[in-house]
Amino acid sequence: MNHLLIIANTPSPNTQTLRDAVADGASSSGLTPLVLSPFDANASHVLQAQAIILGTTENFGYMSGALKDFFERIYYPCLEEKQGLSMALYIKAGNDGQGAKNSVERITTGLRWNHVQPPLILSGDYQPEFAEACHELGAGMAEGVKLGIF
Ligand SMILES: Cc1cc2nc3c(=O)[nH]c(=O)nc-3n(C[C@H](O)[C@H](O)[C@H](O)COP(=O)(O)O)c2cc1C
Repeated sequence: MNHLLIIANTPSPNTQTLRDAVADGASSSGLTPLVLSPFDANASHVLQAQAIILGTTENFGYMSGALKDFFERIYYPCLEEKQGLSMALYIKAGNDGQGAKNSVERITTGLRWNHVQPPLILSGDYQPEFAEACHELGAGMAEGVKLGIF
């Protein structure tokens, strides 16, 4: 198993750029990630994943509805088998992103997934540095998968 799964909702050009930067970062580490919209991802994708990167916007002080729909569908099918799954989270928010962060962490705590680094929160007006940070995130997670750390 050598699978890095990237699941991100991308309702805008900026969020598409961020998702692509994460995927490019993973590719630059020599791994081809599986990149899916939350609506296209299902439990079997998660069951096959060695590590997962989740990306969400903050909407109404919570994670995106798309990511919540994903969690609702995969939670019980993955609960027993994927405890300890290595994951990272990035959030694109207009404000501080805390609502999205807390809402994802509540669910991933229930799933017993392992955040390998603190959530990357990209808040306020879009900055080119956001894509650089996402590239680094993808590269780092891919390295971990390749080296078998995760
Ligand atoms: C319906 C809706 C609700 C939103 N609610 C929040 C929110 O509660 N907090 C926040 O920081 N941003 C909120 N936003 C802003 C989104 O996070 C932002 O549109 C997203 O990060 C995409 O950023 P971009 O405009 O740079 O592409 C909301 C956006 C929409 C469309």
